[in-house]
This record gives sequence, structure tokens and C-alpha cells, in this order.
Amino acid sequence: MMPSYELPGPKSAEYIAMSEKYESPGTTRQVPLVWESAQGVHVKDVDGNEYIDWTSGVLVANVGHCHPYHVKAIQEAAAKLLNCYDFPTPGRVTLAKRLVEITPENLDKAFLLSTGSEATEAAMRIAKRYTGKHEILSFFGGFHGRTWGAMSMAGSPGTKGGWGPLMPGTIYGPFPYCYRCPFKKEPETCGMFCIEYLDTVLKTQSIGDVAALIIEPYQGGAGFIFPPRGYLPALQRWAKEHDILFILDEVQSSFGRTGKLFMLEHENLSPNFLCLGKGLASGVPTAALMAEARIMDILSSGDLSSTTGGNPLSCAAVHAVLDIMEKEDLPGNAARVGAYIKERLTNVMHDVEVLGDVRGLGMVIGLEFVNDKASKEPAPDITWEFLSRMCSNGVIVGRVGMYGNIVRVAPPLVMTMEEAEESCDIAEKVLRSL
Ligand SMILES: Cc1ncc(COP(=O)(O)O)c(C=O)c1O
Repeated sequence: MMPSYELPGPKSAEYIAMSEKYESPGTTRQVPLVWESAQGVHVKDVDGNEYIDWTSGVLVANVGHCHPYHVKAIQEAAAKLLNCYDFPTPGRVTLAKRLVEITPENLDKAFLLSTGSEATEAAMRIAKRYTGKHEILSFFGGFHGRTWGAMSMAGSPGTKGGWGPLMPGTIYGPFPYCYRCPFKKEPETCGMFCIEYLDTVLKTQSIGDVAALIIEPYQGGAGFIFPPRGYLPALQRWAKEHDILFILDEVQSSFGRTGKLFMLEHENLSPNFLCLGKGLASGVPTAALMAEARIMDILSSGDLSSTTGGNPLSCAAVHAVLDIMEKEDLPGNAARVGAYIKERLTNVMHDVEVLGDVRGLGMVIGLEFVNDKASKEPAPDITWEFLSRMCSNGVIVGRVGMYGNIVRVAPPLVMTMEEAEESCDIAEKVLRSL
């Protein structure tokens, strides 16, 4: 039976009013409900309503909410040692070793941090110091965090609008958003013109001082946009040919999300830097920057650090995440269950005029809402209606995208086939009722 909640419930309404009075309005807002607790893929709000989570608390709870093994590791670490900044700990050094062992062979040093923005910011700074150059190339629609440098590399006004002037040396190229190709070409026949066009970008925007490019393997904030197969290896080759370091921002796409531990595994990429966060510690604020030793070793003691980066609690959380990923084969589960969800939603798309596109890999699927399939005009109001009805009917979803018309389907990777079926039944009913 599909639940039917009136949102916000009375307690949620009280907390939302308090939030509006006392909290910065700068944080993002979705459907009005206030979370109280969560277990696995199930969330309870403060009014006692129960939901299936299609957000993973924004792509963080990859091992599921409050996984008992994860919680135990965090509790034990908290009782032992919380922070010691200037000194290594066994948890930190063994984690660095473990991360080096599971990432591509060329990445032989790890730098532990607290947020994804710090990881992308650090990658750009190290690239600048190593090359002695100052320009960074990023991509239309890209998102790399909210600190100044990271924000400057955003490819949408929603992230950087009103915060100028931006970091000097920012240049932008087109991302292969094939559903809305900026060149109005078709992926089957374009010959990846957007790679070729990067030469024009350099000729027109650069002063010949590009240190690095930074790219998400799929764009998260822009709306779960996946480049066609072959694009990322071609970009890596292009970067090498132009003597530009390649920073792959896997803050969102890693730790099983796309059906492999890292998305780079799908096409055997070997970037010079790899930025990790979100699912890395599955809820404890933790990030990591992986880099080649020849590059990372440009730093000297005290050059770049963070008070809580690599603290024992975070390291214990990451070790536990990696144990769980291995023991429960969560990347494999994400591939299997994600494929089922994508197929169900794709089948519905053929009958629903306002659902223009369903795309994704593993447990990261984007639903793009449009007024009609021919015009592809973005439909943020219909998107909002879908979100609201989904939440009222017991499935929490969020939306992203430059036009606010893309729903992100990103459940915790522990979702079972039965839970996927139950939530897809609800989504199908809601989609057909729009
Ligand atoms: C691809 C990507 N990079 C960087 C970040 C920034 O991470 P944080 O919010 O932890 O600073 C995000 C966050 O959504 C992200 O999706």
C-alpha cells in the first residue's frame, strides 16, 4: 500500500519555521520534511512518517544509513582518540596505504581532508605549484565545491553568481551534455566535436598558462549528465598532448556509486589527481586527494593541511566503509539494482510525455522533466510536483540541474531488489499521474 502523507507534518512545520528564523537561508531546500533517523534505505521524519530514501542524504550514505558495522567503528574510534593534527596515527597511515592500493597505479600518495571542496581546491593549488602555471580549465555545468577556487571553476551561474570577482585564470569548455548538445550535434555522428573544440577554447580563452583541467566523470549538480563512452579517455589523451594535468573529481561518483568502486574503472582512466569525498566515509565529514608522488611531493611540511583532515574518527569510518564495500560487494549491488531501477523508469518514460530523458549508471540515475519531448523545454514546476508527490507517497527524492528540472535517483547502495521494486511501483504511479 502506498502511504499518503500531508507534508509538512506538524512537528516538521515547527522545525522548518525555527530553521527559517535561526539558520542561514544559504543551504539548499527540498520538499518540507525534517529527518529524525534512518537505517539502511529507510528514513523516519519527526512526525513518524516513513520513507524509502532515493537521495542517500545527498549521495553520502553509500553503505546505507547507520550501518551497524560502520556505527560500531565510529563509536569505538570516538572513545579512543578524536584529533591530534600534527602527528600521524595508525588509522591515518594505514588508510593512506589502503587508498593508494585501491586507486590506479600511478596514484601513489594520499592527502586526507574534511570536505570535497578542500580536495578539489588542494588539487588545483598543487597543480599550479607543480607546473608553475596558473590557469585551470573546467567545464560548462561543472560543480567542484563552494570554496573560492572550487566555486570559481563552476560552470553555472547558480554556484558562482554574485560572488565575483572569481579566481584569475579560469577557463571553461563544453561538457558533452548530449541531450542538450551546445553544438546541436548527435552523439552518433559528432565525432566528439566537443574535444576538438577544446583547442578553440585554448586559443580564445587561455594565455598559454594552463596548469590543469578539472572535470567530474559525470556531472552531479548539473543534473546527472553522463558523457558518452570514450569521451573521458579522449579527454585524458587531449590533456596529455597539451601538457595539462588531469584532475578527476570523483567526490560524488566514487565508492561504488556507479557500479564500480571508482567511476574511472569503467574506462581505465589514470588521472594525475583524484578527488574523493561524500561516500568515502559515508556520513562522517571526510575527503581525500590522491596524486602522483612526483606531484604531491612538491609540498613541504606545513604547506597545506587541515585541522581535522585525517582525524582518527574519519579514518576509522573510511576503513569501515571499505570493509563493508568489499564484504557486501556494494558496487556489484549498485550495478544490479541500479540497472533494474533504470529499466523500470525508462519503460515508463516511453508513455509519459513530460519525462524527457532517463540516464545513469549504477545507483545514479537522472530523470529530466520537460514540457514535451519535442521542444525539450525544461519543466521545473512539473519536477517539483513529482518530488512533492513522491515524498507524500513515501519516497524521498531531490532535484538538481541548472533549470531545476532534473530528479536525482541515488539510493544507498545497500538497497535490495524488493526495496527497489516497491519504490519503482510508487514512482511509476506518480509519473503516470502527472
Ligand atoms: C563533484 C563534486 N565535487 C565537489 C563537491 C564539494 O564537496 P563538499 O560539499 O564536501 O565540499 C561536491 C559536492 O556536492 C561534488 O558533487
